[in-house]
Amino acid sequence: MIKKYNIELEGQFDFYESYLKLIDKNLSIDCVLSDNTDGVLNGNLLEFKLHINDLNAVLFQAIKYLSARRIKGKPIPANIILISLNDGKAYIYNSEDYIDNIETVYLGSASKDNSGFIGGHPSQELYYVENSYDEAILISLLRQNKFTKIHIDENCIVGWASSYYKQNPEARKSDFIGDLTGKVKIIGEIRKPDKFKDYIYPYEGATNTKFQYLMDKLNDYMQKKNLGAFYTPKQYAKKSLELVREAIKRVPKDNDYIILDRCAGTGILELDLTDEEKEHTVLSTIEYYEYKVLLEVLGDKVRYIIPPTEKEDTFNRGLVRGADALSKEYIENPVIKKYLDNPKCTIILFENPPYAESN
Ligand SMILES: C[S@@+](CC[C@H](N)C(=O)[O-])C[C@H]1O[C@@H](n2cnc3c(N)ncnc32)[C@H](O)[C@@H]1O
Repeated sequence: MIKKYNIELEGQFDFYESYLKLIDKNLSIDCVLSDNTDGVLNGNLLEFKLHINDLNAVLFQAIKYLSARRIKGKPIPANIILISLNDGKAYIYNSEDYIDNIETVYLGSASKDNSGFIGGHPSQELYYVENSYDEAILISLLRQNKFTKIHIDENCIVGWASSYYKQNPEARKSDFIGDLTGKVKIIGEIRKPDKFKDYIYPYEGATNTKFQYLMDKLNDYMQKKNLGAFYTPKQYAKKSLELVREAIKRVPKDNDYIILDRCAGTGILELDLTDEEKEHTVLSTIEYYEYKVLLEVLGDKVRYIIPPTEKEDTFNRGLVRGADALSKEYIENPVIKKYLDNPKCTIILFENPPYAESN
């Protein structure tokens, strides 16, 4: 006999009461409920309704939950299980078949605006209350620990980075995003997944330029603490450029000038400089992977980057040797010194520094 519920939560509770102990007796309902979903149990996302009228709409709701999980850097269960409580029926879908939808970003609540979605047929329909064979299949599905691999992109890399550092607190940025370009050949997790081998496809991009705006958020714990790196908003860059242009107007007629950014990150402050202004720009930054993006994005456009090419010893435990703006070595860098000592050169500092040196 199928029990009829008036309240969805009651049915959901009974379901877990019956099955959780068969899956893992240590699991409680609280362990299963996560991120506003009706439950993630091993490699299964569950969604309960008293009665499912529009299967596609409920499927779409589940897909939106999976989309949110990808963005948060959480594994995507291979099975989507939609339960129509008062029919004692479970509809099973393979999340793999909906990977394009899962890799889309949705705004707003997952439970709203779902009608109109057209999905395929469920891979299985199980009458788990009335048919004991179907119930056995459902139990074995709930025990499965399979996941659907996703692609790393700008929308989800920060989520996966924080999952990675949370699980590997000692890991460095190179362990996560290292690539084969440049002198340091550390292939990071995104390019050769190890910890996440069941969850993500290798990222195919040769460099990390695609993540130019996110490099600060991809730093490991130690770098985050030490560098105070944060992304410079475009509006900030635009507004401050007005001041730089005021300064350029004041450069004495016969003078050369340089625009110096010693903590340029990935060069977002410089994006709107004209070609002419870029030719007067000298850049550096201390963090190695930012430096590599900086070289790639602006290397052929600006006057100079410190260091202009990567040497065998440039990588110095995640930092760029010679690029510490607060070091004596920096002031003594012959290129910097040449400009500092030249009375016919005006130096315009254009920086968004994280450091405070009150002395
Ligand atoms: C607030 S962010 C500026 C971001 C940059 N404007 C951009 O658009 O990407 C500060 C930057 O300074 C770098 N930094 C921190 N300490 C530094 C130091 N001692 N010398 C040089 N750069 C440093 C950080 O790595 C970070 O990229």
